Amino acid sequence: MKIAFNNVQSKPLRHKKQLLKRFSSVLNRGWFFYGRENELLTERLEKQFGTGHVTLVGSGHDSLLLALQAVGCQANDEVIIPANVYPTAFPAAMSGAKVVLADVDQNGLLDIQHVARLITKKTKAIIPVHLYGLVVDIHALKRAVTNTTVKIIEDCAQAFGSMYKNKPVGTLGDIGCFSFYPTKNIGTLGDGGALWTTNKRYLKFFNEGVSYGERTRYKGHFISGHSRLPELQAAALNVYLDMFESEKAGKKKVLNHYKKAFSRLNGRGPRLLYHEDDSDPLIHLLVIDAPRRNALQKYLNEQGIPTHIQYPHPVHKVGAFSHLESQSPQLIQAELLTKRILSLPFHSTLSKNHIHFIVERIAKFYETTS
Ligand SMILES: Cc1ncc(COP(=O)(O)O)c(C=O)c1O
Repeated sequence: MKIAFNNVQSKPLRHKKQLLKRFSSVLNRGWFFYGRENELLTERLEKQFGTGHVTLVGSGHDSLLLALQAVGCQANDEVIIPANVYPTAFPAAMSGAKVVLADVDQNGLLDIQHVARLITKKTKAIIPVHLYGLVVDIHALKRAVTNTTVKIIEDCAQAFGSMYKNKPVGTLGDIGCFSFYPTKNIGTLGDGGALWTTNKRYLKFFNEGVSYGERTRYKGHFISGHSRLPELQAAALNVYLDMFESEKAGKKKVLNHYKKAFSRLNGRGPRLLYHEDDSDPLIHLLVIDAPRRNALQKYLNEQGIPTHIQYPHPVHKVGAFSHLESQSPQLIQAELLTKRILSLPFHSTLSKNHIHFIVERIAKFYETTS
């Protein structure tokens, strides 16, 4: 049986007719940026979030960089990020601030007690990453951050659609950052991203920062890059938003099948990285904490089960961030997890049979090799 890791290839084909119809309207209008599709998408996202304003951008990376610039990050400032999330580290460093790595809990989310110990007078922002679609306890984080000048920038690249105490993630801190990379909970056919805020000053900065710091065309009044969401990508997102609820229901069903299948292992073998508490996560990646992870991955690959490791190294162990290596002794759980995590196939159209096969193979691996 052929098992797909995600639905990046199959989803556009399933909805090809709707996509082509919408693309055709964009082509007919001949207007490729800041057009009707961008306007509609902005409106729909603002409605979905319930409060605040949305700015569409070219990628999740750009949304994080603009967010950090908006709160005024500079050299001598510090930004706290989780030590296990590779893509967040780059915009954090590009903001000019010093990157401070926090350890994570057993689900790979920010260890809030560690964050509390890392806050200094220089801390400008903290980036809780709702990794895999799981939700950081934002109220606990806010209680730990007693200094009100520290801004909370939620990285929701992997968690569009996840909820915390009945509110959408991304709307719980000062700024919410989203990615529409094709694999994400809502992904387009290329790159894309969005920012959310209720703060008028940040909003103004975003609107100008996406286009050469311009208030008036060709009169940029501060130095910035540009970051735009093409109309064709906004059109794809508008198509996918139409079916978001059924996609969500499909993923919940798949998650429940996995949960049931794993519960039958009675604690033998791997543990599912998952928690709800006050949240309703929309899972982006289904990740297990697996003893003898590399051998398991090889075995599953031989069985035709594709897997990935997101992410295989903690930030301070990759070349670009080797200068952060001295923070390593405090990052015990992040280092441990990166050696044990494995992402399993997960998407709304994964069948019950596939899930049983995957979990049965995992059980077999631990039975025969323990
Ligand atoms: C947690 C997280 N943050 C940021 C990003 C960057 O998003 P993008 O790829 O859209 O630039 C990603 C994407 O991989 C991500 O997973």
